[in-house]
Amino acid sequence: MQFHIVTLFPEMFDSPFAAGIMARAIRGELVKIQTHNLREHGLGNYRQIDDEPYGGGSGMVMRPEPIAAAVDQVLSAHPGLWRILLTPQGELFNQSIAAELARREHGLLLIAGRYEGVDERVRQLVDQELSIGDYVLSGGELPAMVIIEAVTRLLPGVLGNQASLEEESFRGGILEYPQYTRPEVFRGSAVPSVLLSGDHEKIRRWRQEQAIKRTRERRPDLLAKSSRG
Ligand code: ADE
Repeated sequence: MQFHIVTLFPEMFDSPFAAGIMARAIRGELVKIQTHNLREHGLGNYRQIDDEPYGGGSGMVMRPEPIAAAVDQVLSAHPGLWRILLTPQGELFNQSIAAELARREHGLLLIAGRYEGVDERVRQLVDQELSIGDYVLSGGELPAMVIIEAVTRLLPGVLGNQASLEEESFRGGILEYPQYTRPEVFRGSAVPSVLLSGDHEKIRRWRQEQAIKRTRERRPDLLAKSSRG
């Protein structure tokens, strides 16, 4: 899967993908990540990419032409990319959107906005607008990284252990059951005895109950959406 990112800060993308599962996926050519510097499409001698808002107000707004030029250039070399604008006003990103994006075989083009906002007409250049949460960041770079990582983990061959992917939090739309490893007693708190029982059916049922209990306590909104409430 190809990920293209249009950004003013390509260097931000170096270290997050230099370690762990992402680095392995890149080395194994399961994913390819390419940044495109928006500044190269800036206007005039100063390579301007933003301007004052019409109607007044504080802050600067990103102009549409540099973004359009960058998008056109990337698409001419890589047709068919699914275009996503990162913005706090987008649809809220979640695991099922990650799964949908993982099936976009041509790859993704992620556009990271900066400053106080982007010109409204940039929206007509994209297929989808996504937010990673109800908080404001200085730009779409970190959100783009979050989406790339969440999507990459779902691609065939990226995770060694397919079973762990399936059991993970959110796969069934609910939180994961509590996990324990050695030691059997840690600072006075013991591993639940059922996990030491060797009774696989009992363990399976206990985990399912715990997952539902935990979801009810912490994220009742998820239970309302899944069918297990
Ligand atoms: N840009 C700034 N904040 C953002 C957010 N929460 N999600 C996506 N893009 C953003």
